[in-house]
Amino acid sequence: MSVRIAVFGLGYLGATHALCMAELGHHVVGVDVDMKKIDMLRSGELPFYEPGLGELLQRNLAAGRLRFTTSYSEAAQFAQVHFIAVGTPQRSDSLAADLSHVDAVIESLAPLLTKPAVLFGKSTVPVGTAKRLAARVRELAPAGETVELAWNPEFLREGFAVHDTLKPDRLVLGVDSAHPSRAETVAREVFAPLLDDGVPFLVTDFATSELVKVAANAFLATKISFINAMAEVCDHTAGDVSMLAEALGYDPRIGREFLRAGVGFGGGCLPKDIRAFSARADELGAKGASAILMAVDDINTRSRSHAIDVTREVCGSLPGARVAVLGAAFKPDSDDVRDSPALDIANQLQRHGADVVVYDPMAMGNARLQFPGLSYASTLGDACEGADAVLVLTEWAEFRKLHPRDLDTVVRCKVLVDGRNCLDPAPWQKAGWTYRGIGRPELTVTEIGVPARVSDREFAVGA
Ligand code: UGA
Repeated sequence: MSVRIAVFGLGYLGATHALCMAELGHHVVGVDVDMKKIDMLRSGELPFYEPGLGELLQRNLAAGRLRFTTSYSEAAQFAQVHFIAVGTPQRSDSLAADLSHVDAVIESLAPLLTKPAVLFGKSTVPVGTAKRLAARVRELAPAGETVELAWNPEFLREGFAVHDTLKPDRLVLGVDSAHPSRAETVAREVFAPLLDDGVPFLVTDFATSELVKVAANAFLATKISFINAMAEVCDHTAGDVSMLAEALGYDPRIGREFLRAGVGFGGGCLPKDIRAFSARADELGAKGASAILMAVDDINTRSRSHAIDVTREVCGSLPGARVAVLGAAFKPDSDDVRDSPALDIANQLQRHGADVVVYDPMAMGNARLQFPGLSYASTLGDACEGADAVLVLTEWAEFRKLHPRDLDTVVRCKVLVDGRNCLDPAPWQKAGWTYRGIGRPELTVTEIGVPARVSDREFAVGA
């Protein structure tokens, strides 16, 4: 059955959700305050890069199931179901989440709701937010108690957004236990094709649904910082963190995913979510949670500083050293540079006096906007021209395929810092390069020529 849906906020989360809801056969209006974004989407163009999403946009525009507007009243009149998918960035004055965009949607939308409707919050919010917003909606909406709010967190990954939305691991719905609710019935209609496919559907209270989201991201971040802490131990003991992760991963209770050591996590979600969760846990007096999260954040920051220390060591000193930084996006197959470890490291190296040139296959436009003071090259070769050290900081396929002969005659010094442990050290060392990974030992002469220590499986799609 087709449902009339409005999605508020057409950033990464909202645009993906709107397009995927249309793909399920619903009639969707996407709402945003940014006219430029609306114009792009109307003309069939995505405001960001995401594999497979462009086809969904064109197909559903052509099918007449999808349109875009800046008008809240148009959306309020049209839709029975409203998804709130605006951003909750870190506040500029604290670690907490900035809820002003979520609040603005509620304050603008609720007074326009004159007939029964269900609002589903998708944005990542501090625990306690849904309860407060539900009361505010009842207060503001002319249709009163017949307008309900429920919370439906989103777990999609950039680069896999369409797959994760249409074939999610689970659906979670937080409902208001204090009020009778139609939200579950309505959610079952909206997500019917997914539920028919057997996607687990967990209905719970507001607080648990808000916590599932931040706890999931906190756990993922903890796994990454854990393995980066182990990499630090490996660096002191000549252990090999890649092999360690592989061996740990065979234990199904631990699992192999998210145990890739390197320069740590970035992006628009993990860093700000663990900080906001830590701030909220602190407010609630949950000291254990805030302590773990602060430690995870500290280790992540240390991972970036460690890459700078290694670069200083291999270059002798940073002032005047010509450093090629390969990678600007926070992860491969994305043009997103929000809190990107690669760009943060590039910027810090430049501040320490290094002559840094950055190259990324996809994220150059966004990188230039965020760090206009850095130098950029339009090809990998140009970035590495005359380099004293080449740093691989995002594991794009283009970089993973690199062979020493591609760079032997391009660089000034044969020095490679593999900040993502994504290259096989043996051919580089055999070709006379200094190879430095993260938590990986220097190979001895007899080991040079042995097969790759890290299997390609580690970097397979979805890993
Ligand atoms: C993350 C979560 O994985 C999603 O489940 C969640 O829905 C999303 O945040 C969100 O809250 O919206 P995403 O930001 O797309 O998704 O990125 P991830 O794939 O989680 O990667 C995050 C960072 O961790 C990247 O910088 C990546 O390079 C790094 N990473 C990942 C590692 O350093 N090591 C690993 O083993 C895995």
